[in-house]
Amino acid sequence: MFTRMTKLQDSPSVGIDAIAVHVPRLFVDLTAEWARARAPELGEASVEQLVGKVKRGVGVVEMAIPDGHEDSATLAAMAAVKVIEQAGIDPSEIGSIAVGTETTVDQSKSIAAYVLGMLERRFGVDLRCAGAPQFQFACIGATYALESAVNMFRAGENTKPYALVIATDVSRYPLRSAGEYTQGAGAVAMLVCKDPRLCALDARVAGTITRDERDFFRPNGMSTAVVDGKYSIDVYLDCMAEAAELYAARAATSLGVAGQRLDAYIDHFLFHVPFPRMAEYAALRVLGDAWRRDPGMCGELAGAIPEVADPKLDSDRGARKAFEKALAQHPMFRRFFDARVEPSLGLSRRIGNIYSGSMYLGLASLLENAPSRAALAGSRVGFFSYGSGASARVFSGVLVDPERAYVPHVARELAREGQGGRRVPLELDTYERLHAGPPKESDAPSSLAQPIPSVRPAASEFALRRVGTESSAARTDVGYRYYEWVG
Ligand code: HMG
Repeated sequence: MFTRMTKLQDSPSVGIDAIAVHVPRLFVDLTAEWARARAPELGEASVEQLVGKVKRGVGVVEMAIPDGHEDSATLAAMAAVKVIEQAGIDPSEIGSIAVGTETTVDQSKSIAAYVLGMLERRFGVDLRCAGAPQFQFACIGATYALESAVNMFRAGENTKPYALVIATDVSRYPLRSAGEYTQGAGAVAMLVCKDPRLCALDARVAGTITRDERDFFRPNGMSTAVVDGKYSIDVYLDCMAEAAELYAARAATSLGVAGQRLDAYIDHFLFHVPFPRMAEYAALRVLGDAWRRDPGMCGELAGAIPEVADPKLDSDRGARKAFEKALAQHPMFRRFFDARVEPSLGLSRRIGNIYSGSMYLGLASLLENAPSRAALAGSRVGFFSYGSGASARVFSGVLVDPERAYVPHVARELAREGQGGRRVPLELDTYERLHAGPPKESDAPSSLAQPIPSVRPAASEFALRRVGTESSAARTDVGYRYYEWVG
C-alpha cells in the first residue's frame, strides 16, 4: 500500500528523532453530566441531540483540563522529560529548546526558559549554552519552531546533537459557547537531529500561506479566545488548499513526483485538528481539489457526483460545499479517509484541541494506533499545519524506524485511574471552578494570583508552586512563577 519512495537528497537527513506527549490527568466527559447541563443552556432540542453533535458532528467525547498546579510551562516540561527519557539521550546534548505556544504564561519571558530551568533541576545538567526562544502564531507556532530547528541542522549551525521542540497549550473558550466543547490541553515534545530515527523531513518542499485574518485571536488580558466559528473553518480550508497546492508544486521537482496526485506519494495525512471533524473537512478540500483536477479520477467520480466537473467549484463557495458534501459520502473517499486520516485522530477525540500540538498529537496517534509500527517504515507522512490569524504550512517526511523510535504511552495513560491509567473525570462544578481560575480579589491581573488548589495534588510531576509577591530593594519577583518537581 505504501509508496516507499524516499528520494535521495543532497542536504543532510534531518528530522524528528523521537516524540512524546503529556496531557493533564483531569478530563470532562462530554457525553454525561456536562451534556445534561448544557443541552438546555445551548438551546439544543435534547441531551441526545447535543451528545450526537459533539460525538459525531464535532468528533470529540472527552477534553483534558489542567489542574490548579498545571499550565503551559509544566505541560511542556513534562513532555520534554518524557521524550528525553524515552529516547534515552543525555539531556546535556540538547543545544536549543524552542517552544511553540499561544497560551504563554508571561508577556515577556519565554516559556522555553522556564522549561530549561525545570530540566536543569530535574536532570542536574547545565543547559546555559542552549538558545530558548518562544514562537507564537496561534496553532502553527510549533511548526515554525520545528522549521527553525531543522534549518539550524541543515545549515550546520547546531552546537550539540539535539534540539528540543515543544508544542504546548491550554485551549479555553467561554463556558456555554459553541467553542466550549473544542477545548483541551496538552504538550508534545520532539527531539530534532541529523539522521533521525522517527521521521526524516523532506527538504525544499514546504508550501506556506499567510493572510492577515480575524478568524480567531485572543486580545491581551483575555483568558479565552475570540472566535468566529464558521468563518474560522472557511479560512482554515482556504489557506490549507493554497498551501497544499504550493507544496505539490515544489514536491513535483524536489521529490520527483511531477504529474502524480498528492495521495500517490503521501501515505498518511496529518491535519491540524481543532476537533476531529475538521480533519475530514480538510481532507475533503485537499483531496477533493487533487481528485477533481486529475482527469482519470474526475471520470471515475463523475457518475456518482456530477458536480465534480462544475466550473464554478473554484469561485463559488456554495458549489464547492455541495461537491464536498457529496464526496464525503462516496465510498472511495470513505476508504481513503478511514485508512489514511482516521488513524491520526484517535487521541484528539479523547483529549480535545491542544492548539499548537494538535497535528503532532496526530503523529503520536498514528504511531499508537498502527497495527504494526514496523510496517509504517518508509511511508511518507504529510503534515498539514494551520494557525488562525492565519497561516498554513504543508510539509512532509518519511518514517524511518518507528518501531525503535516510538515508545507507546499516551493511550495507556488515558485509561482511568484504577484501570491501569491516570485519568480522573471531573464533576461539572469542579470543571467550572478550574475554568474560572483564581478568584479576582482586586484589579490586579489574574497572572499575579496564587495557583488555585489542585483537585489531585501533584505527584511525580512538575508543579506551579507559587507566584512571586516580593517588591523590595533587596528582591523583586512579583508575578514570577516558581516551578518544582514534586516526587
Ligand atoms: P457548532 O455550532 O457547535 O456546530 O459549531 P454545527 O451546528 O455547525 O454542527 C457541527 C456539525 O455537527 C455539523 O456537521 C452538523 O450537521 C453536525 P456538517 O453539517 O458540517 O457536516 N450535527 C450532528 N451530527 C450528528 N448528530 C447530531 C448532530 N447535530 C449537529 N445530533 C464549531 C462548531 C466548530 C464552529 C464551534 O465548535 C467553534 O466555534 N469552535 C471553535 C473554533 C474552531 O475550532 N475552528 C476551527 C477552524 S480554526 C482552527 O483550527 C484554529 C484553532 O485551532 C486556533 C488556533 O489556530 O490557534 C481553533
